[in-house]
Amino acid sequence: MKVLIDQEQIRRGIDQLGAKLNAQYGPEPITVVAIMTGSLVMLADLIRCLEMPLRISLIRASSYRGGVSSGELHVEEIQRLDIQDRDILLIDDIYDTGKTLLEVSKRLKELRPRSLKTAVFLNKQGTSQVQLKPDYSVFDIPNRFVVGYGLDYDDYYRNLPYVAVLEQSDLEQHHRAAR
Ligand code: IMP
Ligand code: MG
Repeated sequence: MKVLIDQEQIRRGIDQLGAKLNAQYGPEPITVVAIMTGSLVMLADLIRCLEMPLRISLIRASSYRGGVSSGELHVEEIQRLDIQDRDILLIDDIYDTGKTLLEVSKRLKELRPRSLKTAVFLNKQGTSQVQLKPDYSVFDIPNRFVVGYGLDYDDYYRNLPYVAVLEQSDLEQHHRAAR
């Protein structure tokens, strides 16, 4: 597996995003809405860099199975969110086509937050299919399938502390070993 972003780079990148958010939001409380499961690791690291009072809401959105998008997005737990008149920071692991961020943003806006900003850990270059771009992203990456730091292939590899490109030989090994 080829490491694309190592642990130290990730630590510095998340610290910098935290500092930027602290400066821009100031002491006002925010609600961090995190799209599970991919943003789990970023969530845990980022919130410890944030200084304002904050609440966390977890939602689920999934369209990928075994590395391939089914094209249909499932969003769960969004109806019960208490975000009206609150400042919302929506976070996700990666911006690829942008459809997830767009769709989730639309649904959150229906609940009338005071403000809504989006932050992603990775921003894939040249793959966007929508107008909406993330307000913040930690790293730009080339158009490759990556795993680690929350990102999965078939729900595996989320625990890797770095970001790696999944190559054909890794896939073959994965299909022999995982079940
Ligand atoms: P989008 O809706 O196409 O922007 O895709 C966003 C979602 O696709 C993310 O939340 C990820 O779950 C998944 N995804 C896209 N690219 C990758 C990748 O390279 N590795 C792992 N998951 C990815
Ligand atoms: Mg995912």
